[in-house]
Amino acid sequence: MTAPLTIAIDGPSGSGKSSVAKAVARRLGIGYLDTGAMYRALTWWCLERGVDLADTEAVAEAARTLPLEVGTDPDAPTVAVDGTDVGAAIRTSEVSTAVSAVATNLQVRPVLQQLQRDLMARIADETGGVVAEGRDITTVVAPDARVRLLVTASEEARLRRRSAELHGSADAAAVEATRDQVVRRDRDDSTVSTFTEAAEGVHLVDTSDLDLEASIEAVLDVVAGVTEAE
Ligand code: DC
Repeated sequence: MTAPLTIAIDGPSGSGKSSVAKAVARRLGIGYLDTGAMYRALTWWCLERGVDLADTEAVAEAARTLPLEVGTDPDAPTVAVDGTDVGAAIRTSEVSTAVSAVATNLQVRPVLQQLQRDLMARIADETGGVVAEGRDITTVVAPDARVRLLVTASEEARLRRRSAELHGSADAAAVEATRDQVVRRDRDDSTVSTFTEAAEGVHLVDTSDLDLEASIEAVLDVVAGVTEAE
């Protein structure tokens, strides 16, 4: 029997990795895991319960007891905490601003990383494979994934995309309003994971000059190349 098709995708915000990861999972007929959504769900849960995000042990304890449920259908990924659908709540600017404090908590990371490994194994078992995306999937969570990719784009391209997504426009004012969120968060996050350079054995896909369809094709080409060479 062939091993499950485990695909790890890392990259910074605005690189297009989420849209690409979902589309690749859909086309290959396998499950999808958004690990950033897990850090966001934990952040939401802490804010909801008044846990001080600066209290690293209290946040780690919240991570250990987080009643999280994730749905891994790439057409409709879901995230619920204690039975409440938090799919929209975890994308608010309140959570987006606070999430780095949780994601850079070194007591939290091993807890969520282990949860992510368990989920990847379960999804791969159920669907024959998994596309997991984040910042440390290729290096820490699943360094043994069959295909590992770093999806990047120039800062300019990333800002333009996020700006269009968040403000419905990529004019100069909207890009400036997005700069802090994208650049600051990536700078904070890069203190705990290496997602700006491809680690050894990780395939680099630069989407700066690619539209979504071309980015999906580029990733599928890497997957085909790796699996054919095995
Ligand atoms: O990809 P995103 O914006 O939804 O990620 C939310 C936050 O979690 C962001 O600060 C990066 C962080 N993150 C992380 O540290 N490790 C991961 N595997 C995924 C996300």
